[in-house]
Amino acid sequence: MNMSYKNLKLIACGTFTALLVAGFTSCGKKDANSPGVEFMPDMYRSPSLEYYGSQVINGDTVYSAMTPVKGTIARGYMPYVYPNTADGYEQAGLYLKNPLAYSEKVEKEGEVLYGKFCVHCHGATGGGDGKVGGKLPGAPPAYNGTLKNLPEGKIFHSITYGKGLMGPHAPLLTQEERWKLVYYVQKLQGPKTTAAADSSKPAAAVADSTKKVK
Ligand code: HEC
Repeated sequence: MNMSYKNLKLIACGTFTALLVAGFTSCGKKDANSPGVEFMPDMYRSPSLEYYGSQVINGDTVYSAMTPVKGTIARGYMPYVYPNTADGYEQAGLYLKNPLAYSEKVEKEGEVLYGKFCVHCHGATGGGDGKVGGKLPGAPPAYNGTLKNLPEGKIFHSITYGKGLMGPHAPLLTQEERWKLVYYVQKLQGPKTTAAADSSKPAAAVADSTKKVK
């Protein structure tokens, strides 16, 4: 028993010394930048792939994340089909309708968003007299003045893409949030006048006034 314990101690000491020697000698001074011998280098170094594509590495084609198939639509996302052109603006004015059912709650949520994203330019009552709006070279027109008969589709279109000095809000607000804002802007517009203020598009404005959701 005693003897085998001694043996064990001897083996342990021997191994320790061997490791010590190996450790010192492995720190060779030949190349200061050499990382030494690597154990299973693949574990530390994976080939770096460019994202969204395929590359040939060591004769193998390797795929990283691929771009979605053309025409793919993210779940729950509705693409906005009207282009940012004068035509797109007119088309949106004629055909684009609010997909959200009107409720006071929805309008109230629009009001909250308005207080965060719009009031500094458009003012609390939408008169274009916000603190920032007044400093712009051209203040925003009043919702219940020049913009009184602006149809919902155009309101949405302009919030989405921006207009003149107003920047696009698509990156800041979801479509749902923008439609909530449309309800609140419509509230600030007040009741539409049947005699369309915008004489260039009487048909659209009149048609829209009959479809007022509230
Ligand atoms: C940086 C100031 C600024 C901010 C912020 C801003 N607007 Fe405007 N907005 C303007 C100006 C200026 C115009 C006039 C654009 C033009 O006709 O050239 C305008 C125009 C509009 C119009 C009329 C568009 C049309 O088709 O004639 C609507 C509707 C509107 N804004 C809604 C909003 C809403 C809703 C928000 C908040 C999400 C908002 N705006 C944020 C400055 C701003």
